[in-house]
Amino acid sequence: MDYINIIFTVDDAIATITVNRPDRLNALNPQTMEEIGHCIDVIRSDQTIRCVIITGAGEKAFIAGADITSMVTMSGFEEKVFAERGLGVLRAFEQLRIPVIAAVNGYALGGGTELALACDLILAADTARFGLPEIKLGIIPGFGGTQRLPRRVGLLRAREMIYTGDMIDAATAFSYGLVNHVYPAASLMQEARSLAAKIARQAPLGILQAKAAINAGIEMDLDSGLRFETEAVGLAFSTDDKKEGMTAFLEKRDPKFRGE
Ligand code: COA
Repeated sequence: MDYINIIFTVDDAIATITVNRPDRLNALNPQTMEEIGHCIDVIRSDQTIRCVIITGAGEKAFIAGADITSMVTMSGFEEKVFAERGLGVLRAFEQLRIPVIAAVNGYALGGGTELALACDLILAADTARFGLPEIKLGIIPGFGGTQRLPRRVGLLRAREMIYTGDMIDAATAFSYGLVNHVYPAASLMQEARSLAAKIARQAPLGILQAKAAINAGIEMDLDSGLRFETEAVGLAFSTDDKKEGMTAFLEKRDPKFRGE
């Protein structure tokens, strides 16, 4: 697929998706959503990729939401198709076998905040702004915001953000537990790559099992989650990388994980 609205690169086992519509503040139109969806398919089929970074082009925005220009003429049925595609793409990020880092370099509004919420980790520039402003457009979040935001920041904070549509700054997002770290805008991508590289060096099947256990367990009662973890750790113990990790420790050297 030829990409028009995104830039997709793979370097040193790290895939980077850059939403590239800076004149529209990287708003997500159907074409952009298709292209991101296609990237996920490529990433899924490339076992050499160990971590993904998603960010926005330009200095102003990560993603300023779904594209209002495209949505203004959409019928309810067309919006339903668009929302289902968006939900599917975000769910695919969540269910990738490898971690996804959102590097939020500016406005993350509506679908921007919702996409970040579907990522494993969120790094923010000090210029980042988060919000679900859909209520100001007479609608409500449609890419999972009413579900993922309360789970992440708690009911009271999520209700206030969704009912008012107000934005929060990066420091507030950090205090809400919505982002892992806040960095000066100029160093955000370097920090994101450094974190991605650290994750990429770990045992791939271990990361896969850890992600599966965290994501499944958070939706389960504790006993079910603990059982899930026991199965996952058993699978991790059956890998060559387990032998390599423990042998390397005892031999006082760095492990060389092969994802086997
Ligand atoms: N969809 C379509 N176009 C968008 C957009 C979106 N979600 N967000 C920004 N744009 C466009 C603007 O219309 C503007 O286009 P123009 O140059 O043709 O006028 C351009 O991007 C630059 O944005 P602008 O509004 O001029 O920048 P600003 O600094 O004054 O304000 C925001 C920035 C993010 C506060 C403002 O653009 C905004 O509120 N955007 C909408 C956010 C939103 O409601 N998202 C949820 C959608 S469901």
